[in-house]
Amino acid sequence: MSEQPKTSPERMEKIVSLCKRRGFVFQSSEIYGGLNGCWDYGPLGVELKRNLKDYWWRVMVRERDDVVGMDGSILMNRAVWKASGHEETFTDPMVDCRNCKARMRADQLPEKDGVKYCPTCGSRDLTEARAFNLMFLTYVGATQDESAKTYLRPETAQAIFVQFKNVLEVSRKKLPFGIAQVGKVFRNEINPRNFTFRSREFEQMELEYFCAPSQGRELLEYWLQERLRFYENIGLPREKLHVHEIPAEERAFYSQGTYDIEFEFPFGIQELEGVAYRTDYDLTQHIKASGKPLDYFDEETKQRFVPHVVEPSAGVDRTALALICSAYDEETVTDDKGKSETRIVLRFHPRIAPVKAGIFPLLKNNPQLVAKAREISSLLRSHMMTFYDEGGAIGRRYRRQDEIGTPFGITVDFETLGEKGDELKDTVTLRHRDSMKQERVAIKDLLGLILPHL
Ligand code: GAP
Repeated sequence: MSEQPKTSPERMEKIVSLCKRRGFVFQSSEIYGGLNGCWDYGPLGVELKRNLKDYWWRVMVRERDDVVGMDGSILMNRAVWKASGHEETFTDPMVDCRNCKARMRADQLPEKDGVKYCPTCGSRDLTEARAFNLMFLTYVGATQDESAKTYLRPETAQAIFVQFKNVLEVSRKKLPFGIAQVGKVFRNEINPRNFTFRSREFEQMELEYFCAPSQGRELLEYWLQERLRFYENIGLPREKLHVHEIPAEERAFYSQGTYDIEFEFPFGIQELEGVAYRTDYDLTQHIKASGKPLDYFDEETKQRFVPHVVEPSAGVDRTALALICSAYDEETVTDDKGKSETRIVLRFHPRIAPVKAGIFPLLKNNPQLVAKAREISSLLRSHMMTFYDEGGAIGRRYRRQDEIGTPFGITVDFETLGEKGDELKDTVTLRHRDSMKQERVAIKDLLGLILPHL
């Protein structure tokens, strides 16, 4: 694990509070007391996640010739989870506190003088660790017997492995090529914590990149760099991203190399994504268990082999949280009259900001100003998420958008209507969130000015 910078519980508290106050994230089933490890995304959270997933899909699938997508089912035949090893080994070590009955992950217990203790009551009277399977068990169909058992998927990857042959055939791809998928997964985490960071229901963005055995090591390095570039392109500063190479003795036995891409959260440096060279393990397991050929015939070398796999596997929710944590900023600003106040601003990259432009008529009771502002909304909204706001002083309206990270503010005033001469007619004030600088631009130039940032 990389050296930990100072954590900041106060900063995290402010971020969690803003997420609820402004509609990024709510507790699931809140009116009934919540459900531990489950979260609902509000109007802004859902936009943020959508932008993130869309950008991932764009760079990982649409802009590449060598990757195709798929969307597998969440429920799969139980045989999949037996073959993949999940039924046997997808476990975390769990201990109970004999004093307060709390259940905890054995590998995350605090320690004093070399002795582990219960973080809830402080007792050292803990049971031995035992393996707890993280998959949610469920039954398919009306009979709840052994033959009806299966699990909610704990990763999207297995659907890709078991459909490898079908996708290969229909897409007519040659190695190396990848299959990408984004979707919900479920893990019955023993201790969900750190807000959405460790949840029981979350989304993954996974690529399984199939290649010849001789290409695996090189492609592992390639994908690590590609993924780092992705995080920088959505606005996470490189200096807050860390690469942790998992030592051989800690890796899964079949892996020939794994990197964790980590981020400096306010609660410490924690994993965002794993980039793993999984060799031919998964396909071989499914060949053995299903008896079906999931191998590849190379037309050029006339060789038949089981492809190796490099897997960049990212968490949507963790990345969304990293984006919010990284964007959160407070600064003191002083107005023209010398009055100072704290400005809360989410400095999102415009590409992932939930709302791209706030549109404000200077006065809400002037029909012409309102009509012009509505016209600008219609012009922009088929290209981007906009927010029309006519309530309150213009400064307040800017602050409200700063707090949710809207990069552009567009104000329609009397100059727009031509009351100060023809030169300024059909121009608006374009305000930039980070610098708070304002410029006068023609309405017809707005799209051309904003779109290149998105
Ligand atoms: N197919 C490989 C795989 O699932 P993983 O490291 O277990 O690998 C991949 O998960 C990513 O999924 C993690 O890097 C993380 O971003 C996300 N993730 C895993 N467990 C999570 C949880 N309990 N809550 C939120 N995200 C999680």
